[in-house]
Amino acid sequence: MRVCVIGTGYVGLVTGACLAHIGHHVICVDNNEEKVKLMKAGQSPIFEPGLSEIMAGAMQAGTLEFTTDIGGGVAHGEILFIAVGTPPLPTGESDTRYVEAVARSIGAHLDGGYKVIVNKSTVPIGSGDWVRMIVLDGIVERQKVLVGAGGGEVTTLESVPAFDVVSNPEFLREGCAVYDTFNPDRIVLGGSSSKAIAMMQELYAPIIERQYAEDKSLPPVPVLATDISSAEMIKYAANAFLATKISFINEVANICDRVGADVTQVAKGIGLDSRIGNKFLQAGIGWGGSCFPKDVSALIHTADDYGYDTHLLKAAVSVNQRQRLIAVEKLQQVLKILKGKTVGLLGLTFKPDTDDMRDAPALNLIEHLNRLGAKVKAYDPIVAQSGMRHGLTGVLVETDPERLADGCDALVLVTDWQQFRNLDYNKMASLMTNPVMIDGRNYLDREALQQAGFYYVGVGR
Ligand code: NAD
Ligand code: UDX
Repeated sequence: MRVCVIGTGYVGLVTGACLAHIGHHVICVDNNEEKVKLMKAGQSPIFEPGLSEIMAGAMQAGTLEFTTDIGGGVAHGEILFIAVGTPPLPTGESDTRYVEAVARSIGAHLDGGYKVIVNKSTVPIGSGDWVRMIVLDGIVERQKVLVGAGGGEVTTLESVPAFDVVSNPEFLREGCAVYDTFNPDRIVLGGSSSKAIAMMQELYAPIIERQYAEDKSLPPVPVLATDISSAEMIKYAANAFLATKISFINEVANICDRVGADVTQVAKGIGLDSRIGNKFLQAGIGWGGSCFPKDVSALIHTADDYGYDTHLLKAAVSVNQRQRLIAVEKLQQVLKILKGKTVGLLGLTFKPDTDDMRDAPALNLIEHLNRLGAKVKAYDPIVAQSGMRHGLTGVLVETDPERLADGCDALVLVTDWQQFRNLDYNKMASLMTNPVMIDGRNYLDREALQQAGFYYVGVGR
């Protein structure tokens, strides 16, 4: 099928590349010229395991192209994905201005045959109808321009190009986005047009039938067809549930710390109950990233707009805000005064295998430690590899873990990068003023660290 994906971030680029990989002809559009230049040269602007290989293969096969020309993309696609960002506004609401700009632009370029416009971005409930309205506005504006230039007719209902809007929320996780795209737990399609839903099912058929799955013997991927608002709500509810689950286990961890229980064993014990499940029960320094914080806030805001005061979701956020500073509390317990001390952070990104720093707990830690007068250093494999600094302030970014350890009064493991399991902790302890390790993810081997000479502190154990 002919596909156009507008917005080539973590979601758009992965979606576009994976759909091209399974044989669709995909044009990816972005208004960031630098990004498009990079992608045209075969390079991925983001770090996502397996993505570069998928891009290279599809580009070679001629099924994946990149452009800044939205008109060309819209003309090409039978299915048009909107995958631009919906970042949080200071109020907690979702900023939908990029979705609006793209929808208007689609309208302005819509011509010819029937198109399915897909909301892949996470958008507030009710956005399906709103996008439809903006696209229609775009069509009318274009007609006005044409009439003004003497080149066309006034739009009548009969002359409006045919299109439908479908909500197709995305559930991929950063760091395993390609894997998640080929191995989804479900595909949600919200919309009232059976023609549009059928086209979406055709688009995803190879994925639904597990042709690209790790385990091809699994039954087909469940496809849930719903109304648009329910599909939009499913996305928010899923993220809010997962974030709440983590806040729950973090609260349990804080109680464990006080009563002398081990949260890793508690999580195992409750996770074996199939009603609870063992995933997203890893206690630590809180959830971050570009999705959980903004989506939970947006859902709270939507509820407020409709006169419902959410207690549980607000509590999940407040537990998380406190949890993000749990490492500072633990540092103070061990080192007492932090003014003049040097703290080294192992990891900066909000989770491993991504270069994404959006709403990363490390940022809160850096800010708070600076405020308390501590000097902060950090080492993160992806930051070291790419040389990027993400506009980081208040932190000295080191190029290897041993330079990080040198002269530190304590280390805090912030991100559970796999390579942190196998560092030379003996050497690192010997370079530190004070070998203290706050393991913010309960990720390291406590005994091995203690043998290396560290005073080890976990979260809830
Ligand atoms: P991103 O910020 O990484 O990428 C957005 C891209 O859109 C950028 O490349 C930007 O240049 C481009 N863009 C903005 N305005 C444009 C325009 N007018 N025309 C063309 N391109 C334009 O965003 P993301 O992380 O990929 O998220 C996209 C959406 O998907 C958001 O709504 C997000 O909530 C949702 N989502 C994200 C994830 C995730 O893990 N990142 C997972 C599920 C859903
Ligand atoms: C999340 C959702 O999982 C995904 O379905 C959605 O599409 C986008 O948002 P992502 O933000 O990429 O994905 O990462 P995820 O693996 O969910 O982790 C989010 C945060 O929770 C990270 O900061 C991670 O460290 C933290 N986390 C996760 C925990 O603290 N404990 C856990 O058990 C799991």
